[in-house]
Amino acid sequence: MQFMVFTDKLSDGVASIDHQHARLVDIINQLYALVLKHDTAASLETVFDDLARYTEQHFEYEEKLFAANGYPKLEEHRAHHDDFRRRLADYRDRIGGRNDTILAADLLHVLKQWLTDHIATDDKEACRHLNACGIH
Ligand SMILES: [Fe+2]
Ligand SMILES: [Fe+2]
Repeated sequence: MQFMVFTDKLSDGVASIDHQHARLVDIINQLYALVLKHDTAASLETVFDDLARYTEQHFEYEEKLFAANGYPKLEEHRAHHDDFRRRLADYRDRIGGRNDTILAADLLHVLKQWLTDHIATDDKEACRHLNACGIH
């Protein structure tokens, strides 16, 4: 069973952004599979690094696209991304080199909750603005 499913409810109506969100969900599911298997610290760290890297790429992509299209709530949106960037860095420090599946499980729940809320509210609102600019 998948930990997180990318359903239509999470679709924001901009293809590139939906695609990136689906990829983030995939990486979170990979992390979940490792936690279930009580996998080694090394693979936990590798997948976590993938997640952090891809999250950063995605945030930068959104921020550039929103800025290029004059999104009026860009700074508020960026501040929410920055909050998540800090949380990921904090987890990265705490996970570093340890096979701590309890910490990883906690991280997974935080990730799922944050991402679901952010996609369904902040990103949805920004994507409505992009739709109005003709971007789908
Ligand atoms: Fe966002
Ligand atoms: Fe997003």
